[in-house]
Amino acid sequence: MPPANLIDGRGIARQLQGELVQRIEALKARGVQPGLAFVRVGEDPASKVYVGRKEKMCAELGIHSETHVLSEAASEADLLGLLHRLNTDPRLHGVLVQAPLPPHLRATVVYASVLPEKDVDGFHPVNVGKLMLGDPTGFLPCTPAGIRELLARSEVQIGGAEVVVLGRGNIVGKPMAAMLCQKEKHANATVTICHSATRDIGAHCRRADILIAAMGVAEFVKADMVKPGAVVVDVGVNRVSDPAAKGGSRLVGDVDFAGVQPVAGKITPNPGGVGPMTIAMLMQNTVRAAERAAR
Ligand code: GUN
Repeated sequence: MPPANLIDGRGIARQLQGELVQRIEALKARGVQPGLAFVRVGEDPASKVYVGRKEKMCAELGIHSETHVLSEAASEADLLGLLHRLNTDPRLHGVLVQAPLPPHLRATVVYASVLPEKDVDGFHPVNVGKLMLGDPTGFLPCTPAGIRELLARSEVQIGGAEVVVLGRGNIVGKPMAAMLCQKEKHANATVTICHSATRDIGAHCRRADILIAAMGVAEFVKADMVKPGAVVVDVGVNRVSDPAAKGGSRLVGDVDFAGVQPVAGKITPNPGGVGPMTIAMLMQNTVRAAERAAR
């Protein structure tokens, strides 16, 4: 028997995807098939796996997808040229450039070059601005949006809660904090962001009703950092060496799951927690982009 306090990311993602099927059918009845383009630069193994999973989900849901792979040596002009083509292709409603990019490509320039109305990743400055302003017409970044959905659908009380977000990255930490402090449903929390310069992270963590670990440090969150009964969300994907494992390494989260699970009120498994939700929210953003284009 799995422990009773697990948040079932796979199940909730499946539920969300089920809700999208009808919307996709309605679009197809009007002659519109949602379309999503993936762009990868270089051969980062993790990015290959992530894009592969997203392509597979598109195929399952009947969303058209295409993947464009540029070499590690591609110039910014090459990438911007490709993005221009994808921006102007009417069959595509979403364009996603998989992060991380090679260091010679400026992420700020690249993400500002995806049309905001096709920016299903929520990385364009217009969509980041709309998130900060609480303007619901923007696209929300998929991982934090998926975490909020996980919490909401697991009956976690977010309003008034003390939330501690570990990590201040642009993909998870910062947008997560911005989302949960909005004065709206499934938000309205008191949010603290902790990072590498935070003094006594443990003291902050122990105050949290909801602890979201997204700093990318293997098994950083230990049992003595968690308030008994707190909700713990593990966003981390860290490869650690393990001579006993196949290939000499294995993946672990930012949370010491075995130690923390007995203390937590609810906890996301990893894998099977946040990951599937990121993909489900990407599908949802793509369907929404297609619905808008079809209006
Ligand atoms: N790399 C890690 N997470 C993400 C994401 O949500 N979108 C993109 N484009 N790249 C990522």
